[in-house]
Amino acid sequence: MVNVILGGAGFIGSNLVRFLMACGEKVIVIDNLSNGSKDFLPKNFPGELFFEYDLSNPLSSELLEKLKLLHNSEELTIWHLAANSDIQKGTEDFAVDFHATLGTTLSALNLATRIKTHSLIFASSSAVYGDHGDRPLDENVTDLRPISNYGVMKLASELVIQNYSVVNPHIKIRIYRFPNVIGLPLTHGVLRDFHSKLKSKPQNLHVLGNGEQQKPFMHVDDLITNMITLNSTSALNEVFNLSSKDDGVRISEIAEIMIDNFSPTTKPVYQTTPQGWIGDIPKYSFDTNKSISHGAASILSSRKAVEKVVAQLKSLT
Ligand SMILES: NC(=O)c1ccc[n+]([C@@H]2O[C@H](COP(=O)([O-])OP(=O)(O)OC[C@H]3O[C@@H](n4cnc5c(N)ncnc54)[C@H](O)[C@@H]3O)[C@@H](O)[C@H]2O)c1
Repeated sequence: MVNVILGGAGFIGSNLVRFLMACGEKVIVIDNLSNGSKDFLPKNFPGELFFEYDLSNPLSSELLEKLKLLHNSEELTIWHLAANSDIQKGTEDFAVDFHATLGTTLSALNLATRIKTHSLIFASSSAVYGDHGDRPLDENVTDLRPISNYGVMKLASELVIQNYSVVNPHIKIRIYRFPNVIGLPLTHGVLRDFHSKLKSKPQNLHVLGNGEQQKPFMHVDDLITNMITLNSTSALNEVFNLSSKDDGVRISEIAEIMIDNFSPTTKPVYQTTPQGWIGDIPKYSFDTNKSISHGAASILSSRKAVEKVVAQLKSLT
């Protein structure tokens, strides 16, 4: 089995590379290193299987030729993880997600067409749903109204992939809507923000929003295990929510855990707004019954996932 991981040098991608290599699979990475690093890849990752390339551009014939040679007619899976992961950046500049989140999807589909592909896996997001408060969101919700450009371009990517699937029904499609995924290396997100702010042992930790935001968090190890399980189910085309099975954890709780562990004298300071930034969804709840009924395993709770990352961070120091 050959796996081409678009965005494979990022946080989730590099963990996936490590997992697949440990299973004895061949892995090829394409990444423009805008938010990833070759240093995140396992030490024994073969340099000739890494391609630095901006996938928001059309695929060059040179890259395609090289990939065809490496593919060698083995069964091929494309994991499309390349995207902008900074929602605020996409709010400031509309072009960011248009290129990095949707443009890369067009390259993923072009690649699937040009190199005989068995399956295409897309890293989508809870952001496609928009702000529905406490309402548990399942995969059949049709009221999809993302409130960030990132979410809009993830939803557009989903639709383009579904349309592609109509004309390419033999390609197995998995669209996974991720919650907040955490683990090492920290490339973005609340844990990275708090961890970097607490390094200087400041008097105050400035938290974005009023701290009441409550979201499901999932450890990257659980995310990968569950994707592998759900990839092997028989249906050709499925959309799955992936998440821990709880109501999530509050940002104020995470601030307390991080302060306790990294700078106990620091005091948290909150804003008055419920949102941390434009496009932030203060509270959401995933209905994960579908993924569980298809074999997704019971996993760490949101809080335990946070504590696991904190322990991992502490073991580095
Ligand atoms: N981490 C989360 O909480 C989360 C939640 C929902 C969805 N996702 C999705 O999962 C995927 C992986 O996220 P992550 O957390 O690992 O983020 P990340 O930023 O660490 O990884 C994304 C990778 O894509 C690469 N990339 C970006 N634009 C590219 C381009 N134009 N061409 C080639 N490579 C490009 C980056 O360099 C980076 O290595 C993304 O699609 C993200 O939207 C992540």
